[in-house]
Order: sequence, then structure tokens, then C-alpha cells
Amino acid sequence: MIEPLKTRIVVGSDHAGLPLKNFLRDRLSESGVPVDDVGTETPDSVDYPDFAEKVAREIRPESGEIGILACGTGIGVSIAANKIHGIRAALVYNDETASLARQHNNANIICLGGREVSPEDALRWVRIFMSTRFEGGRHQRRLDKIAALEPPVREHSSS
Ligand code: RB5
Repeated sequence: MIEPLKTRIVVGSDHAGLPLKNFLRDRLSESGVPVDDVGTETPDSVDYPDFAEKVAREIRPESGEIGILACGTGIGVSIAANKIHGIRAALVYNDETASLARQHNNANIICLGGREVSPEDALRWVRIFMSTRFEGGRHQRRLDKIAALEPPVREHSSS
């Protein structure tokens, strides 16, 4: 039995993912996982890329931190988060994808569809995601090829 990660988790969502995000935040906090919530906080309509960016920029994957993002389908937040350097955001929709997203893809953000999945299923997938480790080996070679697709990080100009 592998111990689940006890490192910090950062959660975020748009309005469509809000109930699921709050459910996951509360269940994880109750079980002793440190959770930071970057919003949204109200049911008012917001734009999912804003919250995907907040979570993606907040986590430190090299420290083992992971993110949880929810929107209506989970698709929008995954597309947006994957634009951020070093982020591998995976749309998860069953037990197997929760596990394989870590084993094969070393995903650092789990994306969920708040209008598509039950909170209980989503919590189980998050726990699987948290307790599954990257297998490395041939999968690292593939992740290296993904990283090579990323544009170089540009220094900010001082002018
Ligand atoms: C918001 O209505 C919805 O478009 C958004 O939550 C998400 O599903 C987009 O991918």
C-alpha cells in the first residue's frame, strides 16, 4: 500500500466546477491534506482559463505538489493549464485514467468535469491520482519529447 501524497494540493475551478471543487477541497482537508483554494468562490460566471492559470502557476511540481482543476467538462481547464510551462494536466474520467495519468504521463494536475461526474467518483479518482507514482523508463523518454515541444521560457525584458 503506497501512502498518499501529503504535500500541498492547489484546487481551482470556474463556476461550473465550483460545487465539485469545494467538495474535493473539504474532503481532502478533513483527511489532513494541506489544500490551497485559488477560487472561484461564488457561483457567478467566470472564465475557466483564469483559474487554470492560477493553479498551474501556483503548484511547484518539482516539490511533488499537484493541482486539481474543475470546470463543466474538465476540457477547458485542461487545455488552458497545459499552456503553462512544465504543466501536464490530465482529464480524468475513470479509475484507470486516474492511475495512468500518473504512471505514464506523470501528470501534475488532475482535471475533472463538474457537470459530468459524481463527487464520490471524482474523490476516488483524486485519491488514486495522489497515491500513484510515475513509472519512468520509456515513459520518461516520451515526456522529454513533450517538454521539447514547449517554447523556451523567455526572460522578461527590463525595458
Ligand atoms: C462553462 O459554461 C463551461 O463552458 C466551462 O465550465 C467548461 O466546461 C469549458 O470547457
